[in-house]
Amino acid sequence: MTAPALTWEIRDGIAVVTLDRPGAPVNTISSAVKQEFIGCFQTLEQDARVRAVAFFSGKPDTFIAGADIEEFVRIGSTAEAERLSAGGQEMLDRVARFPKPVVVGIHGACLGGGFEFALACHYRVATDHPKTQIGLPEIQLGILPGAGGCQRLPRLVGVRAALDMILAGKTERAAKAFRLGMVDELVHPALLRSVTLAAAKRMMDGWRPHRPGPRGLAGLLLDRTPPGRALVFRTARRQVLRRTGGHYPAPLLAIEAVRHGLSAGLSEGLKREARLFGQLAVTDVSRKLVQIFFATTALKKDPGVAGAPAPADVKRLAIVGAGFMGAGIGGTAVAQAGVDVRMKDADLARVAAGLKAARDILDDRLKRRRITRYEHQRVVALLSGADSYAGFGRADLVIEAVFEDLAVKQKVLREVEARTPAHAIFASNTSTIPITRIAEAATRPDRVIGMHFFSPVAKVPLLEIIPGARTAPEVVATAVAFGRRMGKTVIVVQDAPGFWINRILGPYVTEVGHLLLDGARIDEVDRLMVDWGFPVGPFTVADQVGLDVAEKVAGVLQAAFGERMAPAASLAALVSAGRLGRKAGRGFYRYEGGRTKGVDESVYALLGRQPNGGLRPGEVVQRLVLPMLNEAARAVGEGIVRTPRDGDIGALFGFGFPPFRGGPLRHADDLGAARLVDDLQRLSDQLGPRFAPCDALRDMARRDARFYPAG
Ligand code: 3HC
Repeated sequence: MTAPALTWEIRDGIAVVTLDRPGAPVNTISSAVKQEFIGCFQTLEQDARVRAVAFFSGKPDTFIAGADIEEFVRIGSTAEAERLSAGGQEMLDRVARFPKPVVVGIHGACLGGGFEFALACHYRVATDHPKTQIGLPEIQLGILPGAGGCQRLPRLVGVRAALDMILAGKTERAAKAFRLGMVDELVHPALLRSVTLAAAKRMMDGWRPHRPGPRGLAGLLLDRTPPGRALVFRTARRQVLRRTGGHYPAPLLAIEAVRHGLSAGLSEGLKREARLFGQLAVTDVSRKLVQIFFATTALKKDPGVAGAPAPADVKRLAIVGAGFMGAGIGGTAVAQAGVDVRMKDADLARVAAGLKAARDILDDRLKRRRITRYEHQRVVALLSGADSYAGFGRADLVIEAVFEDLAVKQKVLREVEARTPAHAIFASNTSTIPITRIAEAATRPDRVIGMHFFSPVAKVPLLEIIPGARTAPEVVATAVAFGRRMGKTVIVVQDAPGFWINRILGPYVTEVGHLLLDGARIDEVDRLMVDWGFPVGPFTVADQVGLDVAEKVAGVLQAAFGERMAPAASLAALVSAGRLGRKAGRGFYRYEGGRTKGVDESVYALLGRQPNGGLRPGEVVQRLVLPMLNEAARAVGEGIVRTPRDGDIGALFGFGFPPFRGGPLRHADDLGAARLVDDLQRLSDQLGPRFAPCDALRDMARRDARFYPAG
């Protein structure tokens, strides 16, 4: 017999129930827990001493993290998934109809089925602690809130606010949840118990909360009238389709579950919700998104190096180079990790500009209410800078983000080593230069490492960590841990040209140039790749990165890997004509005041090739995607990433590889190595050896092997 998850004691007429799944890191609702809930509420209903229930979590920092995801990934059929959802609804229906008041005290993550449980309770108190995050993230797993969330949330906060939460799979801090009406009271954590018990006592004595619902004319018209709601649903559908390109069925079905429930009533709504949940839970999209959840969760705990020693604490960060990258790193470090940041550049004007750009990141967080005014003031004060190395004597970690040139970086390394304590780590943000080469200039090469951030640093969630040949394991562990404190998803990659991300992007970007010379239209190619699931198309990416930067990276890759990475002539022609991309106001597109003004048609004349409409859409997509998969297979074969998991997570978080496809390696598995080899061989015969399938892929095809175990 395992210990029960639910325990209770009765005091002054109130049953104080605690959920604490034994041995589990967080509370989740499994089938066994569901049975305990049913038993517990049956008992409490019959116990005449009980006049109200107060419910808490026994875990320090989670309330309930939702339904047990491990359990529902094992579901084999639509009918089984529908039953699971209906079972959860039934349990929560008992709570909602419980004849005695049920009050819930929420501290920590209250997500998915956990929030659906809270919604079924009669009163909700939450702590105003940053760990208290409330919401319905199901959409991010490719499913919908299937335990009544699509019914009870719109009834509580109005249809607009509910759709906003459900369709984005958002979680909100407690303060926002309170403003929206998702919880009734907000308290300091020290008061959670007493305030929740007091509410139970009040309700036991007959008091009931008054919830006015959405206010104002818009609230009245859009949330409460059928034509208003119809408009809201139409708009929501349109927005979902625009955002997802129709690749994700869950948000559309969630709209349907909400819509049906509001027009046909709660119990019909619940039935529809369970049916749609059943359909979604067995889709390939949901499987892929759940795999991503488990992969990122596992990565959060991965120290980055085998037998890793404990990471050292980084209290002070210094940055050399206050340009766009340096400032982005500085701003993100103070905002996320709360460390002291010292920035250095050659002159004070650059330092001032860097500090301002770093501060902009903090201002943006304040504007979006991600931090309070008080927190904003506190973190702004952590930023400082100078045109000298003053202050570097106390740095634990120095990140350089200077000009991409080996001699310059080695000079900076020597200067930094002379001014920092022996334990300090020197990290290079290079995207192209081998870390081992940079470390050749070091007196402490064991403390040199690569930390490759992506632009814009505050927004792109990925960080590549690159140990050099002599980097100490403790330095790797420290860089990984610090990257995570900066809020990044971290992968450790080998010190080889392009590392992982630029390496697999190399053939993709190269092919873009060839397509142009073969008569493709710029906006047409971008649209095709967005339709395929990328957030933006390759020409837009190239403009954002900067064509000069792209050319430089391509040069490095070509030097290392030869012809298959040789940039097409089109790129060089554009760079020498001064079209450097967005930053120059012109690249493949024209830009004015930071806005895209459409394709720059004169690019075609410059290259002497007009679009000829001769390329079929399927061919364009294959020419761009297959070489990326080929390069990814080759790089995995060389051990550039430690596991396929790291490779896929890198591509998803680094450049937005479509999540519903799971990542380039999962996608390669879906296509199958044999088919990939055939398609690449055909392209190679038609268009040249840059498409030739790599040995790793051929070998996989021969052995009928996959990157991930089947199933
Ligand atoms: N089911 C199963 N396992 C879960 C889980 C869940 N819902 N939530 C978290 N876990 C596990 C993690 O896999 C991890 O396991 P491990 O230690 O064995 O690797 C462990 O709990 C701790 O998780 P984290 O490392 O992620 O801990 P954090 O403190 O960083 O984050 C969290 C905690 C915010 C709760 C985060 O884990 C999270 O976001 N969880 C998922 C929440 C979610 O998506 N809920 C919806 C579930 S679907 C649902 O409810 C359907 C319903 O509508 C019917």
